[in-house]
Amino acid sequence: MGLEMLAMELDVAVALLLACGSLLALRMWSGSSTKSNVPVLASDAFLGYRTASKTLKSFTQMMVDGQAKFKGKPFQLPLPRSWVVYVSRELFEDMRKARDDSLSFQEESVAIEYTLGNETANDPWHHSVVRKQMTQNLGAKFPEIYDEISQAFEDELKAADSGEWTPIHAYDVILHVVCRASNRLFVGLPLCRDEEFTKISRDFTVTVSRAGFLISCFPKFLKPLVARYISAAPSATKAFGRFIIPVIEQRQRAEAELGDAWKDQKPFDFLQWMLDAANEDQRDPRELNGRMLAMNFAATHTTSRTFTHALYWLAAHPKYIPELRQEVEGAIQTHGWSKDALNNMFKIDSFIKESMRLSGLIASSMQRKSVKKLTLSDGTQVPAGAHVAINAWSLHHDPQIYPNPFEFDPFRFSRKVKEGESVVKNTVTTASSEWLAWGGGIHVCPGRYFASQELKAMLAHIVINYDVKMPNEGIRPTDIWFGHHCIPNPNASVLFRKLVT
Ligand code: HEM
Repeated sequence: MGLEMLAMELDVAVALLLACGSLLALRMWSGSSTKSNVPVLASDAFLGYRTASKTLKSFTQMMVDGQAKFKGKPFQLPLPRSWVVYVSRELFEDMRKARDDSLSFQEESVAIEYTLGNETANDPWHHSVVRKQMTQNLGAKFPEIYDEISQAFEDELKAADSGEWTPIHAYDVILHVVCRASNRLFVGLPLCRDEEFTKISRDFTVTVSRAGFLISCFPKFLKPLVARYISAAPSATKAFGRFIIPVIEQRQRAEAELGDAWKDQKPFDFLQWMLDAANEDQRDPRELNGRMLAMNFAATHTTSRTFTHALYWLAAHPKYIPELRQEVEGAIQTHGWSKDALNNMFKIDSFIKESMRLSGLIASSMQRKSVKKLTLSDGTQVPAGAHVAINAWSLHHDPQIYPNPFEFDPFRFSRKVKEGESVVKNTVTTASSEWLAWGGGIHVCPGRYFASQELKAMLAHIVINYDVKMPNEGIRPTDIWFGHHCIPNPNASVLFRKLVT
């Protein structure tokens, strides 16, 4: 091990030790104030740390136990960083209606202000560009996004072109495809295919998540120091800026020089929509660079992990491929490769939704922090500073809503549509009290329409171009659980075979 590496390992070890010490001090100091009067599931001995460490590996079991023991009433658990009150579907409306001045949305686990920058954390105005301009233009942009998806799969799956079964390291391939497809929408060609640029985006999520986790373990006054000491985020932001800032400056210059003529020439991508939406105080290229990186952070690993989960389901159950293939070919024949075609792929939609139901990225949803003392509609008292979340695991496995909830039934939603239930209720994009994969309320994922479009287009592309199966036929790679996060096995291979046309 080189000296630099050793120094780095030591840095992390020291940081971890400091974090543990701080956590202990923090829990002793603040534990009683954030712990609400809701019954506690499991032991709170040792300031709750024994239970907290159990939640890292057995989170879903604790959700099941809590649901059974308290019969759908709220319960709380100590997590490594704080106590969390888990509520069930009955309190969904309280959560949905809550605003940031009562239950605030704080991605504390990512410590955004220290990893993505203060401006991005405190004034995320670019989210409204996601909600409006980006979502409105998804149909118009679909041909380009699909072009990127198919080109990227072609580049990444070359080894399977021979028509023989070929093992492919699935997660890596999907990460590359998603990163290119997302950046085709965000900044367009040629940057979305630049290996160095996309690598920064692919690595950034890991860098931020690691740094964010460590930073969030420290008390507030120590966070800036820790962030400067251990976080690689600032250097990643700088490296990303070397690509994005010149593009922003060039566009701003062109606008100033061309005036009205710029309107007819300007690019049609997320970066431009954001530049057009920015007011005079929001046009600093460095700040806009941070927002572009934040978008990559929100879009890349969420979609790639979700798709990897779905691919593992497909490869473990290849018997569903012919039915999916038939649907995709029919839709393309009628509508061409378009958003309309995707809108008519109900089985593809249902497959993705079922995969997200069983292997959603998080087993609790809508995590919020109470800004002031609250009384929920069932009388539950939530003190200021307490965390509240919905027990999404139990909801997504509720037999009243999803019969045979542990069975992978990929067409359960498309069947309902065929039986006459509404498309809107059953489609993957619709967030509701029965479907929490996108969160809910004012912070419901604004990227869900784009994410669903990507996920459906990728699945449709795979089923009409490849056969897939697992090396151990029928066996899906085991998911990795870290607290409430469900991560698809990052090392598994899937066998691909290109269809000969
Ligand atoms: C399958 C992929 C994705 C999943 C599962 C997902 C899930 C989520 C969830 C659970 C939340 C928190 C909502 C809440 O607590 O109520 C969220 C927030 C967010 N997501 Fe996504 N997301 C995905 C893809 C994307 C994409 C592609 C984008 C952008 C293009 C995006 C942008 C955002 C943003 C900006 C927020 C914060 C919203 C706010 O603070 O108001 N997401 N997402």
